[in-house]
Amino acid sequence: MNTPRKLHIKSYGCQMNVYDAQRMVDTLARENFVETDVAADADLVILNTCHIREKASEKVYSELGRLREAKTDAAREGRDVKIVVAGCVAQAEGAEIVRRAPVVDVVVGPQSYHHLPELLRRAERDGRAIETEFPVEDKFTSLPQPQPAAIRARGVASFVTVQEGCDKFCTFCVVPYTRGAEVSRPVARIVDDVRRLADNGVREITLIGQNVNAFHGDGPDGKSWPLGKLLHHLARIEGIARLRYSTSHPCDVDDSLIAAHRDLPALMPFLHLPVQSGSDRILEAMNRRHTVADYHRTIEKFRVARPDMAFSSDFIVGFPSETEQDFAATLALVEQIGYASAYSFKYSPRPGTPAAEMEGMIDAATMDQRLAQLQDLIDGRQAAFNAACIGKTLDVLFEKPGRRDGQIVGRSAYLQPVHVMASTDLIGQVGPVTLTHIERYSFFGEAPAPAATSHRNASLSATTGA
Ligand code: SAH
Ligand code: SF4
Ligand code: F3S
Repeated sequence: MNTPRKLHIKSYGCQMNVYDAQRMVDTLARENFVETDVAADADLVILNTCHIREKASEKVYSELGRLREAKTDAAREGRDVKIVVAGCVAQAEGAEIVRRAPVVDVVVGPQSYHHLPELLRRAERDGRAIETEFPVEDKFTSLPQPQPAAIRARGVASFVTVQEGCDKFCTFCVVPYTRGAEVSRPVARIVDDVRRLADNGVREITLIGQNVNAFHGDGPDGKSWPLGKLLHHLARIEGIARLRYSTSHPCDVDDSLIAAHRDLPALMPFLHLPVQSGSDRILEAMNRRHTVADYHRTIEKFRVARPDMAFSSDFIVGFPSETEQDFAATLALVEQIGYASAYSFKYSPRPGTPAAEMEGMIDAATMDQRLAQLQDLIDGRQAAFNAACIGKTLDVLFEKPGRRDGQIVGRSAYLQPVHVMASTDLIGQVGPVTLTHIERYSFFGEAPAPAATSHRNASLSATTGA
């Protein structure tokens, strides 16, 4: 066999992009590519891009400027480096990318990663290849040829895609245009993936989708299954200690999902449920299709089903026409829900989205001031949530060795990193840890007694929530 070629991939944006990057690596492994962390060593560099805000998009072009120099340096040494732009900027801008950055060899949209080997061959032959069509075939149900590689286990936690795309059309958002319409994978394929990952040492599965709780995959009984039913099914797979899902839309929370949180100890009591704003007027302008009161009711249902439930969210400040009063309503909502953590962003007008054409753009200084104020409030809430965890005993899934000798690191149900002095034999197991102190966002705790930990049994033990 020839010497393997080296592949470097840099991912921006959401969990789906992280997952897709792994899928591209696994697909190209069949073409004798091995992954390298060092961009300068690579024969193939893939930028897996994000289009969600202007800043994210523009990063790609500064990165391509650097890559142009690296490519010229490599050419002087007689090495040919190929450059691929993948992801949502590829989908949104297509051929425009090569006009702005002629150094790019391949542009490939998120629906076409399984064609990467062929696109690289085409670029070799024709000098360039661009593919950003949405496939005519349904990529989950009618198996495109060739198929993308099935995802490989990497450590004890893994993502599994269950759904892609979005039909919600929030007025600020590019995702429905870059990822296309909602498509759910059939249950049998998801189960195959989860079984295979569990057999290879994975203990925690995060089901991902742009709108994961809109999942409606075909079940083995010929009926369409909601996400809650899928979670019930996956919780029975041997070896799976923890389940999560991301990202959810408040409108797609149904009774099956609430029941899953009530019934399944393996389903972690931590949910990212983005609300974006605390003002009904802004929610309507955003086309979020629910009110603040609806959101409170939904949160309450989760809390009744699972009292130790904690929440995180995304917020946008400075949406067109947002008044001080609207913004104050967002601050009030953050106070009322008491989030364990949250992300906040300044509104960024995106080409082709309805909000970009709206009146009442908010000036930069007001945006900055609102973002700082909201972030302060969120940081304070997060600190309070974390402080309340000190002294409690939480189940931790141990993931890897820590930075210090003799230390291992895992995560609590709330995704908090927890460090303990304990044997690496515990990696892959869930065990109770009494949290003793916190440094910035990292917790430290007392190691569990080894005899008391088996991932199966421990996962069923009660979690002492915050
Ligand atoms: N599907 C998810 C998240 C999609 S993007 C959902 O429905 O919530 C992740 C986050 O980016 C969004 O929740 C939103 O807060 C933010 N975002 C999306 N478009 C944006 C824009 N134009 N400007 C600023 N933030 C944006
Ligand atoms: Fe974007 Fe809204 Fe769809 Fe989320 S639900 S991906 S914010 S359009
Ligand atoms: Fe970004 Fe596309 Fe994800 S725009 S957030 S990479 S779906």
